[in-house]
Amino acid sequence: MNPLAHDLNSAIAAVNPQVLEMLSPLGRELYFPKGILTQSAEAKQLARRYNATIGTAMENGVAMNLPSVMMHLGDVSANDALLYAPSPGMQALRDEWTKKLLIDNPDLRGVGISVPVVTTGLTHGLSVIGDLFMEAGDVLLLPDMMWENYNLIFALRRQVEIRQYNGLRDGGLDLDAFRQALTAACAERKKVVVLLNFPNNPTGYSATEAEGQALAAALTAAAAGGTNIVVLIDDAYYGLFFDERIMKQSIFTKLATAHPRLLAIKADAATKEVYVWGLQSAS
Ligand SMILES: Cc1ncc(COP(=O)(O)O)c(C=O)c1O
Repeated sequence: MNPLAHDLNSAIAAVNPQVLEMLSPLGRELYFPKGILTQSAEAKQLARRYNATIGTAMENGVAMNLPSVMMHLGDVSANDALLYAPSPGMQALRDEWTKKLLIDNPDLRGVGISVPVVTTGLTHGLSVIGDLFMEAGDVLLLPDMMWENYNLIFALRRQVEIRQYNGLRDGGLDLDAFRQALTAACAERKKVVVLLNFPNNPTGYSATEAEGQALAAALTAAAAGGTNIVVLIDDAYYGLFFDERIMKQSIFTKLATAHPRLLAIKADAATKEVYVWGLQSAS
C-alpha cells in the first residue's frame, strides 16, 4: 500500500474505525499524489520567472485564451473557466453548495458534515461512491422499483449483489418489507449498503415524515446491532415536493449523526433540481 494511502487510512481510523471497515479494498488503496499539487502550490509562492509545474499556458497572469471561446462564457473569467480546477472541485462552488444544503436542510446546521465534492453529474458521483465503498459480493438493498442504471453502476461495474424488496404497499412505503430485507442482510453480512431515493425514480413516491423516521429508526437499530451500514442517499429529484405530508428535508438529516456504524452519504445535483441536465455538476 502506498504510504500516503496508509496515512489517510490512519487518519480515518483515528476518527471512526468503522468507516475504515466500510471502505472497499480499492477505497483503502486510494490516495492523492503529493507531487504535482505540492509543486504547483510551491511554485505559486516562490517561482519568480517561470512556473513549469503544470501544463497550462499563461499570459500576464491570465490563462491564455481564444476570443472565439471567451465570447461564449459571459462574465466567467478566463482563469475560472479554463484552468484546471482542484480535483474535489472549485472551493467557491463547494462553499456555495454547502450553504444551499444548510438552507434546504436546516437540521444539518451545527452538524459535522464534510464539504461536498464536485463530480461530473450524479451518475459519476454514485460511481465514485461505488468505487470507495462497494466490492464484489457486497449486498446493496434497493426497492423493486428503482432507476435502472443502478444495475450498471453497482451490479455490473462493482459486481455488487442488488437485493430488491417490495417498495410500496397500500399507498405508502412497505416498511415491513424494508425491515425484513435489512434484518436478513444484516444476519449474514458485516456490512450492508442501502440506497434510498426520494422522490423515487420511477414511481415518483416520496417518504412522509413518519416514514422517514421509521426508516431512520430501522437503519440505526441495524447499526446498533453491530452491522456496518452504508446509506447512500440519491437526492436527484430533491425539491419536487407536491404533498404537504412528505419530508421536506433530505433523509440524510435523520441519518448524518445517527450511529458511528452508520455512514450516510448524500449524492445530489443541480441536474434536475435546477433543470440543467447538460451542465452535469453535482456533489
Ligand atoms: C434517481 C436518479 N439518480 C441519478 C440520476 C442521474 O443524474 P445525472 O444526470 O446528474 O447523472 C438520475 C437520472 O435520471 C436518476 O433518475
